[in-house]
Amino acid sequence: MLDALETPALLLDLDAMEANLEKMAAFFRGRTTALRPHYKNHKCVALARRQLAAGAIGVTCATLREAGVLADHGIPGILIANEIAGAVKIRQFLDLAQRADVTLAVDHPDVVRALAAHRSPVKLLVDVDVGLDRCGVASAGEALRLAREIIGAGLIFRGLMGYEGRIKSREACEAAMARLAGCRSLLEQNGIPVEIVSAGGSGSYKIAGQYPGITEIQAGSYVVMDTDYGAICPDFAPVLRLLATVISKTEGRRFVLDAGLKSLSGERGLPMLKDMPGARLRKLSAEHAIVDILDASAPVHVGDRIEIRVHYGDATINLHDRMYGVRRGCIEEVFAIEG
Ligand SMILES: Cc1ncc(COP(=O)(O)O)c(C=O)c1O
Repeated sequence: MLDALETPALLLDLDAMEANLEKMAAFFRGRTTALRPHYKNHKCVALARRQLAAGAIGVTCATLREAGVLADHGIPGILIANEIAGAVKIRQFLDLAQRADVTLAVDHPDVVRALAAHRSPVKLLVDVDVGLDRCGVASAGEALRLAREIIGAGLIFRGLMGYEGRIKSREACEAAMARLAGCRSLLEQNGIPVEIVSAGGSGSYKIAGQYPGITEIQAGSYVVMDTDYGAICPDFAPVLRLLATVISKTEGRRFVLDAGLKSLSGERGLPMLKDMPGARLRKLSAEHAIVDILDASAPVHVGDRIEIRVHYGDATINLHDRMYGVRRGCIEEVFAIEG
């Protein structure tokens, strides 16, 4: 039972998670575009397995550490949709590639050369900046040059990726997809086969997933949707809550919960309390959440347990080593967070 949990504890609403999982999986059934969901959002192998069971063709991730965890659990089709650099990471990736089915994104010839120096035919995708202004080559011409460098160095060129971020409009998403499609065309015109074109997030999966030339989608947040992303992503219900205990109360003014920045991210805005309209979270410090009492009759007592809606899931999950899967007030499953 929830009453027995030590707080703060991260709760996962099983009904909402399963509905989100099924909604995304249903979209891809019978389509040529596939889903290779991102691991970084939930960092949970049990959830990755459910995504695979629902039709995903593999798992995307952000770091070598995540890829290592996935490999340790025998997860197939790992895509590291992010850059690595430096001798330590190059060595780690080469070791991982010996024991797992893993493909890495690159955007710089120096990394291709460093990988090639070890004479092991690793699998690579060229990352294209489709508007996020983060990693990725800047043009189709650069993508072509890097693909040629990969092939010339004896490595395996598999295709392209481009993550457009939390795009808010169809036009912005289509503009991003057009950049990827343009890269694909240029490579093919130059005789380079493109097996994979990976793109799309939880807010853009429908547009990216139907765009000609895109072969797979790397959405991840949908399965553990938070209230920040949920505000622009109405297809998926919020899934995460933090259970906390009232540890102090100043009558008529405020109460304090045993949950702060060490268990809950406030980076993208302050979270809201669940079912507590008479109170509003004002501030998070390391170990405390300070809540203003707006309605003096709000029934709150020291020792009460209160749920907070998680506003930024990625950075909150990262603070925990497990999530408690809850249905109708009972814990059905404990999900380990790894990577
Ligand atoms: C490169 C990359 N791909 C995919 C994702 C997952 O997309 P979303 O959060 O929109 O589901 C992210 C971020 O979360 C990302 O950084």
